[in-house]
This record gives sequence, structure tokens and C-alpha cells, in this order.
Amino acid sequence: MPKPYQDILKEVLIDGERLQARIAELGKEISQDYAETEGLLLVGILKGSVLFMTDLMRHITVPHMIDMMDVSSYGKGVRRSSGEVRILKDLSEGIEGLDVLIVEDIIDSGHTLSYVLRMLQARLPASLRICTLLDKHQRREVDIELAYVGFAIPDSFVFGYGLDIDEYYRNLPFIGVVKDGVVIDES
Ligand code: IMP
Ligand code: MG
Repeated sequence: MPKPYQDILKEVLIDGERLQARIAELGKEISQDYAETEGLLLVGILKGSVLFMTDLMRHITVPHMIDMMDVSSYGKGVRRSSGEVRILKDLSEGIEGLDVLIVEDIIDSGHTLSYVLRMLQARLPASLRICTLLDKHQRREVDIELAYVGFAIPDSFVFGYGLDIDEYYRNLPFIGVVKDGVVIDES
């Protein structure tokens, strides 16, 4: 059995109230920026973006569609993906001519999203941008343009609000920092 989260939580980094307030702001900003869109598609990256996606879309007043994509870095247990990404679930529809906004939980090295960007760009969307809840910018290895960032955070392993530790704790309504010494399989 996995431990109750209280046993591995060092501190709450962003509480639920701050999260929700910032997400409301992002939704407002996105609604203004895409007011003239001919077709807006939010693409959530599974599974981490699920909570963020469902909260964010409730604050976007422009009519839009959603789709989900599941990707994983190659090689389980190998820390720091080489940039090779495996597609576990592709989008269900084409994106040509659409304004595509990728919704992600966290950008770390940037390898995952940089691969996804290249792949989706080849499908000729009208525009392609990224909205990430968290940005661990100190760990960036590839340059990647982020149109919307919820919070810039320091380089520590976080969990909750979609982010997991070995697939658990995604349901927590806040972002927490894990205690030192907790062993994590970051694949
Ligand atoms: P990147 O390719 O290094 O940018 O990896 C991004 C992915 O790594 C995210 O989508 C998360 O699944 C995972 N990740 C990176 N940092 C954390 C963290 O602090 N907690 C949980 N997952 C993380
Ligand atoms: Mg992820």
C-alpha cells in the first residue's frame, strides 16, 4: 500500500486557493487572446494535465474543443529523457487549420513538449502554443516557448493536482513538495 500523502509531504508549495485563482486568470487571458479564433482546440497531455485542463476550460469563455494525447519518455527508469518520446495515445481528430493550445502540467527539461510540438506542427495547425501550469525553468535543456505559465517553481520534485509519485496522489487539490529521501521512479 502506498503511504498516506502526509507521510511524504515536506510542504505545500501552492495551495488549492492560489491554484484556482491563477487558473481563473489564465482562463481569462486565453479567452481574450483567442476571442477571434476560427476554431480553438485544447490538447491536454495525459495524465498529469487532467485536473488543470478540466478547471482551466471552465474559465475559457470562447467556444472550444478538447482532445487528449498520452506520451511517455523512452526507457523506464532512465532519468533525463533523451528527447525520444513514445506516443501512447494520439489525438482522435486532425488539427489542420485549428488554433491548438497544448495544456501541460509541468515543463521540466522540455524534451517531452519539444517533441510533441514538432510532431503537431507537421499537421499544419493555424497556430500552436503551450499553456503549462508549472515551469521548472532551472532544469530546462531545450529551449521552448511558453505562451502561458501558471507558476514558475524551484527545482524540487512536486506532486498533487495531477502530478504523481509512481502514479499515486494525482487527486490532491494542492501542489506539494516531496520530503527529502523519498525514493521516486521519475521515468
Ligand atoms: P520533461 O520532458 O523533462 O519536460 O518532462 C516533463 C514531464 O516529466 C512532465 O509531464 C511530468 O510528467 C514529469 N515531471 C517532471 N517534473 C516532475 C515533478 O516534479 N513531479 C511530477 N512529475 C514531474
Ligand atoms: Mg506528464
